[in-house]
This record gives sequence, C-alpha cells and structure tokens, in this order.
Amino acid sequence: TIDQKVSELLSKMTLEEKVGQLVQYSGFEYATGPQNSNSATVLEEIKKGKVGSMLNVTGVEETKNFQKLALQSRLKIPLLFGQDVIHGFRTTFPINLGQAASWDLALIEKSERIAATEASAYGIHWTFAPMVDIARDPRWGRVMEGSGEDTYLGTQIGLARIRGFQGKGLGNIDAIMACAKHFAAYGAAVGGRDYNSVDMSLRQLHEIYLPPFKAAAEAGVATFMNSFNDINGIPATANKYILRDLLKGKWNYKGFVVSDWGSVGEMVPHGYAKNNKEAAEKAILAGSDMDMESRAYMAELPKLVQEGKVDSKFIDDAARRILVKKFEMGLFDDPYRFSNEKRQKEQENNQENRKFAREFGSKSIVLLKNEKNLLPLSKSTKTVALIGPFGKETTANHGFWSVAFKDDNQRIVTQFDGIKNQLDKNSILLYAKGANVDDQDKSMFAEAIETAKKADVVIMTLGEGHAMSGEAKSRSNIHFSGVQEDLLKEIAKTGKPIVLMINAGRPLVFDWATDNIPAIMYTWWLGTEAGNSIADVLFGIVNPSGKLPMSFPRTEGQIPVYYNHYNTGRPAKNNTDRNYVSAYIDLDNDPKFPFRYGLSYTKFKYSEMKLSSTNLKGNQTLNISVNITNTGNYDGEEVVQLYIRDLVGKVVRPVKELKGFQKVFIKKGENKTVNFTLTPENLKFYDDELNFDWESGEFDIMIGTDSQNVQTKRVNWLK
Ligand code: IFM
Repeated sequence: TIDQKVSELLSKMTLEEKVGQLVQYSGFEYATGPQNSNSATVLEEIKKGKVGSMLNVTGVEETKNFQKLALQSRLKIPLLFGQDVIHGFRTTFPINLGQAASWDLALIEKSERIAATEASAYGIHWTFAPMVDIARDPRWGRVMEGSGEDTYLGTQIGLARIRGFQGKGLGNIDAIMACAKHFAAYGAAVGGRDYNSVDMSLRQLHEIYLPPFKAAAEAGVATFMNSFNDINGIPATANKYILRDLLKGKWNYKGFVVSDWGSVGEMVPHGYAKNNKEAAEKAILAGSDMDMESRAYMAELPKLVQEGKVDSKFIDDAARRILVKKFEMGLFDDPYRFSNEKRQKEQENNQENRKFAREFGSKSIVLLKNEKNLLPLSKSTKTVALIGPFGKETTANHGFWSVAFKDDNQRIVTQFDGIKNQLDKNSILLYAKGANVDDQDKSMFAEAIETAKKADVVIMTLGEGHAMSGEAKSRSNIHFSGVQEDLLKEIAKTGKPIVLMINAGRPLVFDWATDNIPAIMYTWWLGTEAGNSIADVLFGIVNPSGKLPMSFPRTEGQIPVYYNHYNTGRPAKNNTDRNYVSAYIDLDNDPKFPFRYGLSYTKFKYSEMKLSSTNLKGNQTLNISVNITNTGNYDGEEVVQLYIRDLVGKVVRPVKELKGFQKVFIKKGENKTVNFTLTPENLKFYDDELNFDWESGEFDIMIGTDSQNVQTKRVNWLK
C-alpha cells in the first residue's frame, strides 16, 4: 500500500531530507508574493533533496527541467508543482464571484474540470483553489476569488470545484490536487483590509466561516492552505485549535496543510514569534506541514529537533502527508508523467474550452435593471456607440489571477469585437474610450459625447480596473474609479438610451447610475470569451439568469450588509423606519441590491408553496413544492431558493438562512414544479457551547425570487 511505501521511504530519509519535503519555493519568472531572489541556491537545494515542491513553475519544459534536478538528489523524490489555477488556466473563465452568480454547480464543476485538464497538461499537479472564504465585505479585494456571502452557497460551490479539479481521483492524468483555502476566516478581515486581523466568537466561526472547509475535508480535498490573518489573537499558521484540534483532530483530515506565501515568517511581524526559529517551531507544532517561501522550515526545523524543542514525530507526520500525495499522484512511477508535449499542445488554445467559456461567461452576467425592456437590443440597430475604458481592452477582461494566460494568438475577445460580431452587416459600431480607468483626465469626454450623439443606443462600459481587486487590492472607496461616473453623467445628458455594463471584481457602489440609467448589466471579469459572452446577452441570444452572490451596499458606510443578519431587539419595520430602531439615520436599511437579485428577459410567476405538513415530529421530512410559470416571451432559467428562520432559539438565529436552491430552465408559457426537502439536519446550529443541534419550535419556511421577496409559511417542529 501507499502507506507502507511511504514508511519504507521515510525510514531511509535523514532529518534534513524529511524537512526538505516540507519546503516550497516559488519559481523565478512569476511571483505571487514578495519575491526572494536567490535562485541559484534554490536549484542547488533541489539537487540535495532539500525542496519538496515548487510553485509558479509551469509548462512542460520548465517542469521537466526542475524535476530533473530533483531526480539528482540521493533518494530521487519528485517535486510537486503547485500553481494558482483560480478561474481557468489557458482558457480563462469569469472570476469566481462571477461564476458564483451563475448559481450553476454543473457549470462550475465543468470549468474546473477544464482548468485541471489544461493545467495538468502543462505539468501542474496542484492548484491553490478553491478559495472557500465567506466574505461579507466588498472592500476586501479577494471577494473576487470566492463565492460571496453565504455559507450554504459557498459550501456547495467549493465542493463542485473540488470535484472538478480532482476529477475521477488523484492519479488520473487530468486530475490535479485541490486546496481548500484560506484556513480560516480570512474573509472576515477587519475593515476589509487584506491580511488584517479577525476577531470573532467561536460560534460565528463554526457557523459561518468553517462549514465550507469542513465539507471540503470530508469530500477528500487533497490539501489545505493557511490564511494570513490571526484569529482571536493567534495567527492561523500556528493556530493549534483550528489545525490540530479541528482539522487534523475532530475532522480526521489526512491531507497536508501548506502555509500561505511567507505566513510562517510573518508570525514575527504579527508579534507571535520573536524570530523565524520560533515561528517554525510554532507552525509545525500547530500542524502547518509545508512552508511556502518563508524559508524558515529548512533553516530552523533540523536545529529545533536536535535541541529537543520539536519532537521528530511532527516532522515525520508532515513529511508522510506530503509523500502520500506524491505517491497518489503517481509521481514515483513516473515523475514526468504530467509534463507531456502532446497534451500541452492540445490544451494550448483549445476551441472546445473556449466555447464553454463563452457559455459560462454569459451565464454569469447579472441583469440589474431593464426599464421599458431596453434590452435585449436589436441586431439591426442602425448605430451603436460603445463608450468606456474597457471596450477594446484585452487583458482587462481577465481579472486578477490569470497566471497562465498569455495573449498569444490574440486569444481574448474584446467587448467591441463581441458586439461587432453580433450586429447586422449594415449596422455601425462606434467606439470612444471617454476616460482612463483610474485618473482625473477628462480630455476624452468631448469625443465620447460626440460619439454618443451619433448613436441610436449607447453601451457604456465602466467599472474598476481588472487589477483593482484580488490579493492586496482592498479599496476604501468602491465606486467606479477615476472620472468614469462623471463621464456617465455627461453621456446621459445627451438623452440617448444607455445600457451600462459594469466591469468589476466586487460589488461596487453606483447609486446614481442605478437611479438614472435605464439598463444595467453586471459583467464582472468574464475571461477569454468576454466580448462574445456579453454580446450574447446584449442581443438576447442568451437570456440572463445570473443572481448576485453578495448583497450590494448603498454606500461604503453600510458595509457589512448581508441577508442573514440577526433581527436585533429593535428591528426596523421597513426600509425607512428610523424611529429608535437599529438603522442609520441617513440611509435606507436594505442594500441597493439584495443577495440573489437578478432579472431575466422573461417573467416567472410563483404559485403558492405547498408543504407536506405544518406540524412535524422528530426525524420527519418536510416536503416543500412550488410551481413556477414562465409568463414572459423568452425561454429562461430561474434560481429558486429555500430559506428558513428559526423563530426562537437558545442563541439568536438569522432572519433568513439559505437551505437549498435549484436552477431550472422553463420554456416560455410552460411551468415546472420545484421540490425541496428539509429534515432536522437542516435545522441544526451551533449554540454558545458549540453543540451542534436543533431545537423544537416554530420555523418560517420561505421561497422566493430573491432574499427580500419571499412567501412564507410557518411550521411547528417538535423533537
Ligand atoms: O495561493 C496564493 C494565496 O491565495 C495568496 N498568497 C500567494 C499564494 C500562492 O500564489
């Protein structure tokens, strides 16, 4: 068995060789963290068996070259190659938050299957994804990599991604190891500032932030990654409670944990270790198995063992976990098996994958407003003007974390080209940039206004720069950057009908636009086929079905605003109630757009929901059904959601909790019945002593078109 093989190997290894397996360095061409530049030493260390893994080494040639060095070491233990395959590899897909807006688990899984097939053909064994951090603060730049604010949705999406990456199982040539990150609570950084501290009750941690990780561990995700933050005063990298007690203890997790870039060494500035030596000691004892780029483990762990500060069993355990994965990946049978020229060639610019990217892109778009059915546009509109800094951009269609994408062969479809592809031959498409993404220059306004005046319809493409969200890209001001809003106001003065497309990696604040522009589509960053995906929705080839995975705030001052809040002792009666209630005196209570909001070109009518019973006992199952009719003029997809509210609890419960959703396709004029079931398992919650159970009582069952518009029925459920 693999276990025996690993034991045999470990018995031959010196302490230094074992520690070597716990070391990961970055390649030299591309850095995803603060760079170290002693490349010559790294190469020598690989030859001596002092390195277990490399990140940011990619492609058949490069991975082979590095692997050759590892095979010169005494025991010829192959390297693992890790990479951030976050929203696609050679073919890029919508940023992850955009993907979450599709609420389509099958599409998400398929996108990761494609990403894994492409990445594995480039010699990659391991992706640092999925990021399953729940995030309620759109100032945090990394919301673009996650699935938004809801734990249930985030868990389901995380699982779909793991299924996609790991395919039929490690050892298959197109399966790569997934990594549940960032463990844990990284998404709750104070003030939305990246790398910042997290201070929260253990109950909140267990209820909101940990479930996607627990589910990932149970589903067999190959690895975990630490988060940079401290949790209640203890950096996650040395947090014994989450790593040893929960992950490796209670959850019985057998994979390995990699630190984040430099996070072992960062415990020194955190003020949790006085130097790298103490940091290495604390990290290994807590359960961090691999040191990404801190360069602390190799320098310090052998000494720590010799001094008796770290028992060698901790080194053995970490090395074992990593070696098991190398065996499972088949690297001891053939260290070069993933580095295959033919496969790489096939995946370089794969047309099938592009087709899928186009579909996925269009399904991720969220239609926020469509007054007087301005959309879809007619393909025979005589003159269309595209205005805004993103219209002819190429790389800006990707979003952060497009590590493997190179725009060779002009592989990105621009918004301009996508629209042009759809318009009739006799129609004219004009373009004016109007403004730069992020400066105060208004000198292009005049030309843009003149362009708008010549058009029958204006499509404005505004937002934030593609590199304004992602790691270390937190923003305190989440409006359109630069002078783009001023440009929009000037163009609106022409009186031309305007369709606004918003390009962003997070929920932005765009109150003026929402109140004044007739049609608005949220297009995130859609990837390789962005232009075509956008045009498919603009011209009605695809009926939009995306729904927001995060609540959109009215102003930055409203953050965090999320649907599953508690009721408080003084809840506001309505949106404008400010009479000694929990509210702002200067702002409406609800968000600008609620969680799950999104329009379609068609209309869906919900029947009254039916419950199998309103009085339940013990482990009975509650069946809930609702019939939905497509009453509009287009075939379309609807995301039907089920929420519950536990009215009285040992600890207060949220006003709504998502417990299920289904995406259904309904032809115009037709209807479908959607069924959900609830069991007591769905009613469980963590109490203040962290018991996970349910209580007898009354529950509201809600079904609706978004988190605000629901119909409700009450049931009694006794133990
Ligand atoms: O995987 C990432 C992580 O999410 C943030 N820091 C760098 C890592 C490796 O690139």
